[in-house]
Amino acid sequence: MPDESMKKTIMVALAVCIACSVLVSTAAVSLQGIQKENIALDRIRNILIAADLPAEGKDIRKVYENNIEPRMIDLTTGRVVDDKKIIERLDIERFNIPAAAGDPDFGRNIPGDRDIAGIKRMPRYMVIYFMRNKEKSGKVILPVYGKGLWSTMYGLIALADDLKTVTGFTFYAHAETPGLGGEVDNPKWKESWKGKQVLDSEGNVSIRVVKGRVDNSRPEAMSRVDGLSGATITSRGVENLLHFWLGEQGYGPLLNRLREGLYG
Ligand SMILES: Cc1cc2nc3c(=O)[nH]c(=O)nc-3n(C[C@H](O)[C@H](O)[C@H](O)COP(=O)(O)O)c2cc1C
Repeated sequence: MPDESMKKTIMVALAVCIACSVLVSTAAVSLQGIQKENIALDRIRNILIAADLPAEGKDIRKVYENNIEPRMIDLTTGRVVDDKKIIERLDIERFNIPAAAGDPDFGRNIPGDRDIAGIKRMPRYMVIYFMRNKEKSGKVILPVYGKGLWSTMYGLIALADDLKTVTGFTFYAHAETPGLGGEVDNPKWKESWKGKQVLDSEGNVSIRVVKGRVDNSRPEAMSRVDGLSGATITSRGVENLLHFWLGEQGYGPLLNRLREGLYG
């Protein structure tokens, strides 16, 4: 067959396409394990950031296993889930919040007038994290999420033994604008949450993200955090998602049980 024949050109192109697609799919399949491992490590890394447990230069899995105890809870009752079928289906180590919220069996709709976090649906169950060495850091780490300006922001908040003082707060997934709403990732801003009171003495959610700077001479400064400049909508989103998740529709029943010393 002459080199310039149409048939040969098509055959060579086809052979190149097949060879490339085999190469790409082999790479994708063989990298799947590494990808899963990286997702798992990233989850652990974020939990340790919220727990304020530095793990640089250490085996982060060991730090996690020595300090953190994950538990699946039923949000409606605040009780630990012991139904093996639910625990297996939802997989405590790989619990996926959006997947659980979207699942017809494991998620539910939030009525519009109560959806202050703007999330439409939420899981019936959630994986939370108890801290074993609580004298050093906090007591419990709670996943939270809600709408910012452009995106749903996913975070973790750690509370001290009194279940109202923040010991750590981090966002691990969002698509807010870098330099504006994206400053939810700013280490300085995250640091400013430590020691703040998210609930008042009656257990009502009292935290506010103010526009501008907190007036530290005022008694309510303990439950006020500086807003992100030029990002009032994202800041309001953070406040709203905390009011939702720390309130009755979120972790309220769990926090009531923990306050009564029912476990923890
Ligand atoms: C390109 C662009 C990106 C923006 N990104 C954000 C954002 O991520 N979060 C946010 O709250 N506001 C963002 N804003 C600003 C909002 O539109 C709005 O003006 C702002 O939230 C008001 O905050 P301020 O009162 O602190 O200025 C963005 C504006 C522009 C033009």
